[in-house]
Amino acid sequence: MPNPFKPTAGAAPPLLVGRQPILDAFQESIDDGPGSPYLLQLMTGARGVGKTVMLNELGEVALRNGWVVIHATAGPGMLERIARRAKRYRQELGTPDHAPGATSWKITTPVGEVGRETYDSDPELRVWADDLADLLDALQEHGTGVCVTVDEIHSLDLDQMQVLAGDIQMLIREGRRIALIMAGLPRAVEELLAGDSRPTTFLRRAERPLLGAVPVTEVADSFLEIIAGASRSISDDLATACAQATQGYPFMIQLVGYHVWRQAGVGPITADHVTTGVASAQARLGALVHEPALADLSAVDRTFLVMMARDDGPSRMGDIAARMNKDSRYASVYRDRLLKAGMIRTAGYGLVDFEAPYLREYLREHAAHLVSGQDDGYQG
Ligand SMILES: Nc1ncnc2c1ncn2[C@@H]1O[C@H](COP(=O)(O)OP(=O)(O)O)[C@@H](O)[C@H]1O
Ligand SMILES: [Mg+2]
Repeated sequence: MPNPFKPTAGAAPPLLVGRQPILDAFQESIDDGPGSPYLLQLMTGARGVGKTVMLNELGEVALRNGWVVIHATAGPGMLERIARRAKRYRQELGTPDHAPGATSWKITTPVGEVGRETYDSDPELRVWADDLADLLDALQEHGTGVCVTVDEIHSLDLDQMQVLAGDIQMLIREGRRIALIMAGLPRAVEELLAGDSRPTTFLRRAERPLLGAVPVTEVADSFLEIIAGASRSISDDLATACAQATQGYPFMIQLVGYHVWRQAGVGPITADHVTTGVASAQARLGALVHEPALADLSAVDRTFLVMMARDDGPSRMGDIAARMNKDSRYASVYRDRLLKAGMIRTAGYGLVDFEAPYLREYLREHAAHLVSGQDDGYQG
């Protein structure tokens, strides 16, 4: 029996734990039709929390409803790639090509609104919405629509963002069956939304599910189900121990499952397997999640985290500032940055704690490389 767990970014987990409400909300909006809230979503969450997986899962929901799904990752030429896919799907549906510039939706469009300037001036980009509109026309007869997902939305350049926002907004206003589901890292998305340009206004109207940890009891149930389903056995207590070790963090669910399974070989899973497997999972989490996340941060951000790691539980802001030899105003700037980055969360008045499991242990182990006495920009 192959190992059922999938500790790889974007890989579909054997069981999707704790996300049913998001799937249900999307299904409901598909049923309710154009203009329903969950057809436009901007999901945020820290690395490894399952954003890419959710885009895929929501795509599956749309597919089950007979919709066409186009998955894209932000980057140069993204809109053209989406357009090409839309065109191919439309051709598969057997609908004839429209003459350029003669699609119905352009005729009904009130020119001059919602970012049309960029749109009209750039034929490369214009093509994307035409192809999408043609596909929507073709699907209209079948009562279905198009679901576009955009991963790593924070990496989209402003030009494409403007066109994407303007055109999708237009399609929504025309009552088209279009869904746009985007995902990105919390701080990067915050920054995107902080501006006052038109795409920003549009994006602010999107539903904004924040993906976080899932309930540990559901994780335990999932271990029991997956392992039994793969003709292996684990006791309730050990399943609970595994689940607790994940702290409900999705990437860790797959890592713990994978390494515990691997330890066990062919026999039943024992307490020793769990102990060793969890330790391996923890080490992999450091390399796969903590290390890249910390590399994205500034030296002072990292110092703040290392100072937090001296505590065994939630840290007081006053203590962190004192350990950094800075005043509390200085420390609070970095607290805000780290909150937006999804690295920490508030844990009651004046308290912060780590968001990801085992970050504390990782920081303690690697403190020497991570701390810096340098200021990195904030003057205060
Ligand atoms: N709800 C979930 N239940 C169980 N495992 C999950 C869940 N969501 C994601 N995973 C697993 O977590 C890992 C990271 O998922 P991914 O979607 O790549 O995260 P992100 O895009 O947020 O960095 C993958 O191994 C995936 O299978
Ligand atoms: Mg991802």
